[in-house]
Amino acid sequence: MRLSAYFLPTLKETPAEAQIVSHRLMLRAGMVRQSSAGIYSWLPLGFRVLKNIERIVREEQDAAGCQEILMPTIQPADLWRESGRYDDYGPEMLRITDRHERDMLYGPTNEEQITDIFRHSVRSYRELPKLLYHIQWKFRDEVRPRFGVMRGREFLMKDSYSFDVDKPGAMRAYNKMFIAYLRTFERMGLKAIPMRAESGPIGGDTSHEFLILADTGESEVACHRDFIDADLVASDIDYEGDLQHLVDGFTDKYAATDDERDPAKEKELGDALVIARGIEVGHIFYFGTKYSKSMGAVVAGPDGEETALEMGSYGIGVSRLVGAIIEASHDDAGIIWPESVAPFKVGLLNLKTDDDGCVAACDDIYAKLRGAGVEVLYDDRPERAGVKFADMDLIGLPWQLVVGPRGLKSGTVEVKERKTGERPEMPLETALAQLTA
Ligand SMILES: Nc1ncnc2c1ncn2[C@@H]1O[C@H](COP(=O)(O)OP(=O)(O)O)[C@@H](O)[C@H]1O
Ligand SMILES: [Mg+2]
Repeated sequence: MRLSAYFLPTLKETPAEAQIVSHRLMLRAGMVRQSSAGIYSWLPLGFRVLKNIERIVREEQDAAGCQEILMPTIQPADLWRESGRYDDYGPEMLRITDRHERDMLYGPTNEEQITDIFRHSVRSYRELPKLLYHIQWKFRDEVRPRFGVMRGREFLMKDSYSFDVDKPGAMRAYNKMFIAYLRTFERMGLKAIPMRAESGPIGGDTSHEFLILADTGESEVACHRDFIDADLVASDIDYEGDLQHLVDGFTDKYAATDDERDPAKEKELGDALVIARGIEVGHIFYFGTKYSKSMGAVVAGPDGEETALEMGSYGIGVSRLVGAIIEASHDDAGIIWPESVAPFKVGLLNLKTDDDGCVAACDDIYAKLRGAGVEVLYDDRPERAGVKFADMDLIGLPWQLVVGPRGLKSGTVEVKERKTGERPEMPLETALAQLTA
């Protein structure tokens, strides 16, 4: 993409309304634009990141045996009356009346809807287990939407739902999601620590939140220092095998969100205790038969008796992750995207657009990189070098290929790695080989 043609409305000034760094940088880098409180439009650069995060989430859900569906945003109130949550949910639910005076709502989550789908289509334990997910916009009328996309009113969530005939089956599904979440966040360059959590209005008795530690986190959390020091990678997973020991390896160590903290245990930990602020990027729940009982979602068991489905639900804050990744990865100059979610891999900077030789060389490099399938943002604007450097640092692409007439004379270019700031000069061919590898 040529920057001269790209829609990238960057801001010079720091927007006064943004309290945290990710919000400031997302506005300055022209990634989003607020429509109303807690509701955002995604502009090209931001949308590319959102799609990359979505893709990683999808790949890891698919790998864990979860099947993608798509449920609507607008739901009938009657389903929520069946579960009892229409009254329980309170003012966070956006309630709508259609032209026939029917009560509808903009879904804050989808347990009722998926339970309704399931009860109409699955009759026998032989059709279980099943894991289904969708990636869909949610609406929660938060009292205090803030921090940009981190606590929005409209936000994109991946939510999965598991259906099993008994509790051991439900725990197998829970463990699959537990491990899939570790892998998902790890691929985005994040260390998301699984912590014991309260289950809140969704209900249930086993729940973990996945949190990234950051000063701007909304809640105070505590965990064993091992989580900070060690890698949280779960590799080579056989999702059909027994994952319990793997999950236990994580849950055996102390890690708790604010409601679940245990002063006695924390005292025991002594120096091994870390208290920090955390950003919740994922949340998994086992809630048993809470919805299946109230909504009559039953299957015939092996003995022919009807039993209520054992269920769990599993959420990832896809749009929140855009902000969370920036919180975890930035410097004074701007964003530092991990390559896996970066909007483009390479920024190509032509330092002298009124020099024919420089233009020809850059056009050629641009064509070669694109030909090799590399995503490039080509700064071909007639701007000063300083402006180009600042903009590239702000938008945080992992690699900058800097081309100027002086280097070209000897056939060299500069390759700057955004993360380290190192900018070695090298022959053009070496640079191309490195960036297309
Ligand atoms: N208002 C919001 N804005 C952005 N993301 C949100 C918001 N609320 C929840 N999320 C994301 O969706 C995930 C699943 O939501 P859930 O756990 O049901 O919400 P909550 O913890 O707010 O009750 C959360 O872990 C979080 O990453
Ligand atoms: Mg939660």
